[in-house]
Amino acid sequence: MRINKYLAGCGVASRRKCEEYILMGKIKVNGRVMKDLAYDVDEKNDVVTFNDKPLKYEEQAVYYMLNKPKGVISAAKSKYGETTVVDLIEGEKSRIYPIGRLDKDTTGLIFLTNDGNLSYKLTHPKFEKEKTYEALVKGKVDNDDMNKLKKGVVSSDELLKASYVRLIRMVKGDSLLQITLREGKKRQVRRMCDCIGHSVIELKRISEGGIDLGELKPGEYRKLTAKEVKKLIGGK
Ligand code: URA
Repeated sequence: MRINKYLAGCGVASRRKCEEYILMGKIKVNGRVMKDLAYDVDEKNDVVTFNDKPLKYEEQAVYYMLNKPKGVISAAKSKYGETTVVDLIEGEKSRIYPIGRLDKDTTGLIFLTNDGNLSYKLTHPKFEKEKTYEALVKGKVDNDDMNKLKKGVVSSDELLKASYVRLIRMVKGDSLLQITLREGKKRQVRRMCDCIGHSVIELKRISEGGIDLGELKPGEYRKLTAKEVKKLIGGK
């Protein structure tokens, strides 16, 4: 990372002011005065000091919510040149990544951040954060089917359970369900619906950890408010 950005990230001063400090000889890298404004700090190995005091780089945490469109993958990078959720966030310099996953064909709410703590709080099973989906599934789902989803179905030796299920409405002979999970197993909603014989046609996540997708259209995103971040870190 360019040295002025690094120094600013350590809270020394603005990037421009940091350049002045560099030229004044106040910055040392590995014990030697560094006056090269183009120097790239090796964040892992370089010891950087300001007025002989060692610095610690603390990147500012950033938090986004995105309505993931179909065909975009939930990863920071793609080996195969696919568009990723990170590609959709324009102008963000921090190394952000998605929290958890949505399948390539699933749309809806996904959070992105550089904050490992939030990522942990949302994905570790012990916190049981709620995720709510709208699933359009084939055919007519009856109460028996919905009770099976709530009791739990077995798929590939895993018990998969919904904490809440309701029929929102019928759509041309198919059923639009609202399904809430407190677990996050791979392709969970699709597998659960397969188990009751009503495979998923469309799947969209509408809420996670008490934060709703709201009016964001596919591909649209916004930063989370401080209140929303607090809710995600603290609440259920
Ligand atoms: N369940 C699924 O089957 N797919 C998703 O993308 C999310 C939950």
